[in-house]
Amino acid sequence: MADSPSAIAPSSAETAWKVLALLAATYFLWHIYAKPRPKPALRSVAVLVLGDIGRSPRMMYHAESFALNKFQTYLIGYRGSKPIPSLLSLPRINILYLSEPPSYLRGLPFIIAGPLKVLSQVIDILRTLLERIPHPPEFILVQNPPSIPTLAVVWLVSRLRGSKVIIDWHNLGYSILALKLGEQHAFVRLAKRFEKYFGRSAYAHLFVTNAMREYLVQEWDLQGRKVVLHDRPPARFHRASPSESHELFQHLLPSFSSPSLTSFLPTSKPPYSTPFTYIPPSRFPPSGPTLDVDLALDMSDLSPFAEHVAMPELRGDRPALLVTSTSWTPDEDFGMLLDALKQYELAARAREGLEDEKERLPKILMAVTGKGPLRQRYMREVERLQMGSGQGDEGGWRYVRCASLWLEADDYPLLLGSADLGISLHSSSSGRDLPMKVVDMFGCGLPVCALGFACLDELVKDGVNGLVFHNAEQLAAQLESLLRGFPSAPALAALQASFQQAAHAPAGSPDHWEWGTWAENWNRTMRPLLLHDVASEAAL
Ligand SMILES: *[C@@H]1O[C@H](CO)[C@@H](O)[C@H](O)[C@H]1NC(C)=O
Repeated sequence: MADSPSAIAPSSAETAWKVLALLAATYFLWHIYAKPRPKPALRSVAVLVLGDIGRSPRMMYHAESFALNKFQTYLIGYRGSKPIPSLLSLPRINILYLSEPPSYLRGLPFIIAGPLKVLSQVIDILRTLLERIPHPPEFILVQNPPSIPTLAVVWLVSRLRGSKVIIDWHNLGYSILALKLGEQHAFVRLAKRFEKYFGRSAYAHLFVTNAMREYLVQEWDLQGRKVVLHDRPPARFHRASPSESHELFQHLLPSFSSPSLTSFLPTSKPPYSTPFTYIPPSRFPPSGPTLDVDLALDMSDLSPFAEHVAMPELRGDRPALLVTSTSWTPDEDFGMLLDALKQYELAARAREGLEDEKERLPKILMAVTGKGPLRQRYMREVERLQMGSGQGDEGGWRYVRCASLWLEADDYPLLLGSADLGISLHSSSSGRDLPMKVVDMFGCGLPVCALGFACLDELVKDGVNGLVFHNAEQLAAQLESLLRGFPSAPALAALQASFQQAAHAPAGSPDHWEWGTWAENWNRTMRPLLLHDVASEAAL
């Protein structure tokens, strides 16, 4: 050092610069440390997700559950889709939006914009956790991934303020990065060390599957309490009544108005009938079908003569309604579903002459929900298959139609609750997470045919609440065996019945598989983690 001339005789400008920097750093540290440290406010929590809050169902359900358990709840994340209504109405929930990274960063090359974006996020999260929330929260619940920079920021805040960190491990951030860059990439190795270092020492860890728990506990030697909290849908996901279905399908009629669908579906006359439901005419009062049915339906809620008012029912000539929800990305093989439907079409034709109705196969309407990059490509392919090439005796599909639907948030549970069978094409990148869409389907009492992968059996019990397939042939065979004789299809009915049994069978009985609502599950799993505070509050 001594032989560096500038160290001996630094220019005054340089010295001034250094002193200024030192003063600034000191001020910053003093500002944080020297302030009398307020104790964390009991029964308060910050729920942090570095993403669109409205598209983070699990974190919204967490926030809702904390609030219902009397925690003052701060939900922190980005603005975007509308959050579920209960978050906007519950008194103990405050939504604190983070600001978007400054727009001028978008013009810069990634190598500069990347670090600057992270820096602006760090400052914004720190400011939110340390200043916008009036007292330090007792708990900080953070979703991982993304890991960078959130894990480090909450680690720092927990050091400064004494908040207890709970990490909700949805997946491993570095493993997602590794899909793009490869395990050996320097960024990936760095991200892994970061995630491990800042993730290890939390107060508690939540996992979405047993597989995730086993893996992380073994690989990373996690400290703190460790709990598996399987996803469960909230209570609004339930089996729809025929009246709810009737209303939904009236609502969806415009989506079914293309010529290829109108010629395929049974004819309907709203408000008396839809392709799937109808109001039985024989039950109309003597004045006949001129009665205002809407009025009659509204009255049914109040009228002591409700049993005399016509209620919608499912049609006997309805097609089987199958639902899949997809993000239309390459990791979900929609082509496999199309192959299976092709085979089903042929099987249905082969059986159409059969004497015994119970041996015939029904028409299928395959409702596909979701938006994504491959949608156009596959829907063109669907169009081609449905219409046929126009030559030869094969012709277009007669037994199958696909309809791509974009639903309001409130209609989605109703569609699942009205459907006959769900299809899941989800395949897990890590083999340690489970498809939320199957969870939603189960919440609606809807059995599934699901593409198999490593830990799927934590959710789908093959032959009980669904069937597991590995290729298009197996899926086609499952559709045939489940739908034979529809609408009275014994194999399908057996799967559907398992949901009632799951709700009523005593634990330990052979038919039992564990199922409950999010709130039941959360109360049972999370309250013990937070309980000592509940006890100390009771002692006050
Ligand atoms: C969960 O706990 C909260 C708070 O005690 C309670 O209000 C709620 O009813 C419970 N929910 C269920 C489904 O047990």
